[in-house]
Amino acid sequence: MRRACVTGWPVSHSRSPLIHGLWIKRYNIEGDYSARPVSPQEAVSFYGAFASSGYVGANVTVPHKEVACAAATTCCGAAERLGVANTLWLEDGRVVADNTDGIGFLASLDQAAPKWSEKTECALIVGAGGASRAVIDALVQRGVGRVELLNRTEARAREVAERFPGKVRAFGLDALSARLSSADLVINATSAGLAGAELLVPWERAKDSAIVTDLTYVPLQTPFLRGAASVGLTTVDGLGMLLHQAVPGFERWFGVRPVVDAELRDIVVADLIERDSCS
Ligand code: ATR
Repeated sequence: MRRACVTGWPVSHSRSPLIHGLWIKRYNIEGDYSARPVSPQEAVSFYGAFASSGYVGANVTVPHKEVACAAATTCCGAAERLGVANTLWLEDGRVVADNTDGIGFLASLDQAAPKWSEKTECALIVGAGGASRAVIDALVQRGVGRVELLNRTEARAREVAERFPGKVRAFGLDALSARLSSADLVINATSAGLAGAELLVPWERAKDSAIVTDLTYVPLQTPFLRGAASVGLTTVDGLGMLLHQAVPGFERWFGVRPVVDAELRDIVVADLIERDSCS
């Protein structure tokens, strides 16, 4: 029996056991995927000894993405570039780490808005935290020509921009209205919605052809996406990124490349609604 898990603190909110559990069943795999809480006190020893934990791999969520990356024998892909990992697997007894958030972001857009990449000369991203960095890295890897990063704390946007020399321009949020009119892709990577605050976006200034997406998937239709949709813009919710970032890990651990389809999405949406109504 091959066993994998999602690790973090806390992990009870994670939808990863639901997603991987569905795929394990669908593809008839002799495997198991569970939630494994790892306290901050335990993190260094847990990830340091991961090769002998009995798991063939793991997802890593907040707040351990950096610790897990540092503890791995090898970091590849975005984990190597960013120093944060969300996926671990074993190769010849060594722990390998990658970060699939950016891959998930691109795959979600590819599925929901297939021609986005050709049409995007300028991407505007609001928010300069960890999720934002993974998305900027993915946009740069995909070859998007111009990335404009806006953040409430402008200095933080500048720090992030410096990690991508010549690729990213940094602004404060006061530039939102002016920068919005040249953006082909508009991304909300802030946690404003989670904190009950709302970003005020003058959507009427956006290009008619702009595609708008949000990394938050609770709620699925965030105020950011609702505002964009109200002026007729194409929107892509954040759930696709969650589903697609899970694909590379599952393939490594269980040997089957799983498909993100409407059945999977519907089941996870139903779970989001059910848990929301319970809270
Ligand atoms: P994550 O790792 O999930 O991206 P984070 O590192 O806590 O989370 O980053 C949260 C982002 O949301 C930051 O860019 C934050 O802006 P600051 O750097 O100025 O703190 C942004 N954010 C949070 N609440 C916000 C609000 N009410 N309005 C605008 N931006 C907000």
